[in-house]
Amino acid sequence: MAYKFVSLVVLGMIVTLTSCMDQYNPIPYWKQFTKEREVTSGVTPKLTDKGEIPPRVAASAGDQDPVMAKFTALCSSCHGADGKADGAASAAMNPKPRNFHEKAWQAKVDDAHIAKAIKEGGASVGLSGTMPPWGAVLSDDEVKGLVAKIRDWGK
Ligand code: HEC
Repeated sequence: MAYKFVSLVVLGMIVTLTSCMDQYNPIPYWKQFTKEREVTSGVTPKLTDKGEIPPRVAASAGDQDPVMAKFTALCSSCHGADGKADGAASAAMNPKPRNFHEKAWQAKVDDAHIAKAIKEGGASVGLSGTMPPWGAVLSDDEVKGLVAKIRDWGK
């Protein structure tokens, strides 16, 4: 009698445990999370003024240049695909992200200011904290490359 009871309890425990493990199995959630990260870190292409899908050429040209690839991945959502501050997220921002083609701004700042803003964020140079710090994500060389790219746009 007791033997039957114990075996029933053990069986019950096994059934409960395995169903719990199945419920809390993190692998499918992790896979979904990774996929969502991949989708959101990609840049959403913007339609042209005529409402057409933009040519793929621009994106693949950017892919070849590692500095542009970083800019596209990390900065373009706010600063625009080519630094004109027309990124998808910028419309609702106040203050607006910097348009790197602005000659007056280019003349006002030095490379050290731009590098510091990139590495330590807007707040570190007295600007809005909406501009995030990137020092943990970018190497010094990558920051240098981005500064040069930003300077190119001012020419
Ligand atoms: C979440 C949106 C956002 C992202 C992403 C972002 N920025 Fe900015 N950035 C801003 C905003 C907003 C400002 C303007 C802050 C202000 O004027 O107070 C700014 C300002 C700057 C400035 C300083 C301009 C000045 O006025 O002196 C530099 C340089 C800059 N960003 C570079 C970058 C680079 C390079 C990246 C990518 C690694 C990047 N930003 C990513 C929003 C963003």
